[in-house]
Amino acid sequence: MYIQTERLILRNFTDGDLDSFLEYHNDPEVAKYQGWGIPYPREDAVAFISSMKERVAPRQGGWIQFAIALKDTDELVGDLGCYIKEDDVRQARIGFTLSSKHWRKGYMTEVIPHLLEYLFEDMDVHRVVADCDTENAASYRTLEKIGFRREAHFVESYLDNGVYTSEYHYGLLQREWRENLKGR
Ligand SMILES: CC(C)(COP(=O)(O)OP(=O)(O)OC[C@H]1O[C@@H](n2cnc3c(N)ncnc32)[C@H](O)[C@@H]1OP(=O)(O)O)[C@@H](O)C(=O)NCCC(=O)NCCS
Repeated sequence: MYIQTERLILRNFTDGDLDSFLEYHNDPEVAKYQGWGIPYPREDAVAFISSMKERVAPRQGGWIQFAIALKDTDELVGDLGCYIKEDDVRQARIGFTLSSKHWRKGYMTEVIPHLLEYLFEDMDVHRVVADCDTENAASYRTLEKIGFRREAHFVESYLDNGVYTSEYHYGLLQREWRENLKGR
């Protein structure tokens, strides 16, 4: 994977990403609505990067995470991943994280469409979904800005640190993606 956007690169992880990856994984603001706990151990980060280095393309029933780096310096600033459904190669889920030093610069809105282009046009994916905590405005506003449709609001549907929290589910179809592109 190597995709350049206006300000960013979407690429495979490298060993040199370790310190930056650990820094944002250990930021409580970044981890607030994510599945990992803090402190995020160095050995987990080493294992994660090592496993992602070997994964060169999306595969059914598994996540692949790509590194988001600054075009000018190649510094890691976040990650963007996709999961291909185990029983349907034409359905995918995406997930994304950005270092808080780089929030609100439009980076995630800039980079996600490039992954969608790859999924919809190169892999012929029919439908992409994403979900987020109902309190995670940054996440759902990013998804809505890109064209995702809110399809469900599940109330107190998952247990997070002993508290039942609520989720929004979003979806986007290949034909909607293509229609949206025509309208731009
Ligand atoms: C979600 C996240 C990736 C957004 O990245 P970002 O690059 O800052 O987002 P953008 O700058 O592209 O902004 C996209 C939209 O979201 C809005 N937004 C961004 N952060 C926001 C916040 N904290 N509160 C409300 N809206 C926010 C922006 O204003 C923009 O909408 P607008 O142009 O209509 O105003 C980032 O906040 C993040 O990494 N959060 C922690 C990890 C996380 O929760 N990931 C999602 C898990 S489901």
